[in-house]
Amino acid sequence: MMSDMNESARGIVVGVTGASGALYAVRTVAALMSQGCSIDLVISDFGKRLIKDELDREAVIDRLPDYLRSKYGETIDAGSLSVHSNRDMGATIASGSHLCDAMVIVPCSMKTLAGVAHGLSRSLIERSADVMLKERRTLVIVPRETPMSLPQLRNMVLCAEAGSVILPAMPAFYQGPRTLDDLADFMAGKILGALGFSHALYPPWVGS
Ligand SMILES: Cc1cc2nc3c(=O)[nH]c(=O)nc-3n(C[C@H](O)[C@H](O)[C@H](O)COP(=O)(O)O)c2cc1C
Repeated sequence: MMSDMNESARGIVVGVTGASGALYAVRTVAALMSQGCSIDLVISDFGKRLIKDELDREAVIDRLPDYLRSKYGETIDAGSLSVHSNRDMGATIASGSHLCDAMVIVPCSMKTLAGVAHGLSRSLIERSADVMLKERRTLVIVPRETPMSLPQLRNMVLCAEAGSVILPAMPAFYQGPRTLDDLADFMAGKILGALGFSHALYPPWVGS
């Protein structure tokens, strides 16, 4: 895989919250590490619960690199991973003076979406997202809920107006996916595209 980002533009914050779709999160982290990124990973309490509920038993947060390596291969070793507590408001990524390039919240719960939309900064994930918006850096939000209430829809609009990319967890079927991993590859590919990376996570659409 090739990266379009320059050598100094590879620090990415990944927030994982308690919406369904933990597979999207681990696929995205692995794909970014394979691109050589330094990942600052923050997982909310419900994000941890969803990882436990939706992924294999081997997906233990304390041993995440081992899990990612066994599932996605040794290419993840091109990057690095630091895990932060969602309660640690003193982490480097809570400050705009820490230079990182972009953030993705995948999946993003409606609660965290609301917190970002209203600048609440109640957790490290919300604070880091707030930093991305105030510093005019790239923030990709991957919301998952259905159906959506009017406040939830409005919160997406608020985030989009503030400059974030709203990239809903909506995998497509025109690539002929056969497995859940195919669907996760598609979403991770969309996220990498929004972050400025080229990738080979799914075949490009060539028209008909
Ligand atoms: C099994 C399970 C699935 C959930 N799925 C979603 C979901 O898809 N979208 C959502 O917004 N909330 C979902 N929730 C609710 C959130 O986890 C809950 O609102 C939580 O407080 C979010 O907190 P967080 O944003 O700090 O992770 C789910 C909860 C559970 C237990």
